[in-house]
Amino acid sequence: MLVPVLIAVHVLGVVIWIGGVAFVTMIVFPMIMRMEDSFEKVLFFQGMEHRFARIAKSSVAVVGLTGGWLLYATGEWLYLFSMKGIGPTLMVLVWTFYLFVLLFEGKIFRVIFGGRAAQDTGKIFSLLSRFHWVVLALSLLAVGVGVWAGHGGV
Ligand code: HEM
Repeated sequence: MLVPVLIAVHVLGVVIWIGGVAFVTMIVFPMIMRMEDSFEKVLFFQGMEHRFARIAKSSVAVVGLTGGWLLYATGEWLYLFSMKGIGPTLMVLVWTFYLFVLLFEGKIFRVIFGGRAAQDTGKIFSLLSRFHWVVLALSLLAVGVGVWAGHGGV
């Protein structure tokens, strides 16, 4: 009873979080890159990121807590970093990466948008967009491999 409920909550957290990342990557970035004014680009991006960061932070907390609990409840922590535990291993790696980005988000944006770099917003957004595509691909890989491995794939 506990494990299916934990998986359901875990997956709901993943849907909101990775769904948001997909929306930002596939819809918001192309919109920003089509804007003419650099100042408008930065304002729009920061407003959007500020709102989404709060949703992402709570989803990361829910996914991490339920994920850790699932590892413990199913005994799957024993297989972390082995082929048998490939699903949860990829999940933990992706989750840790996001945690790191969200924790240091303020600093990262100050470096990206501050100083000399501020002059070339076109280049910055194209880099940020490519970075989001890589992160989205890794997240989808974790979802795909997680479901595949969890349903008899390994
Ligand atoms: C600390 C981070 C995480 C831990 C410890 C963790 C652990 C787990 C465990 C133990 C399960 C259930 C057992 C299984 O089906 O193998 C599970 C299910 C799942 N996790 Fe995670 N997870 C974490 C983060 C993530 C992330 C970041 C994603 C997506 C990018 C994700 C996607 C999924 C999915 C889709 C399932 C359902 C698999 C299925 O049964 O069909 N998890 N997770």
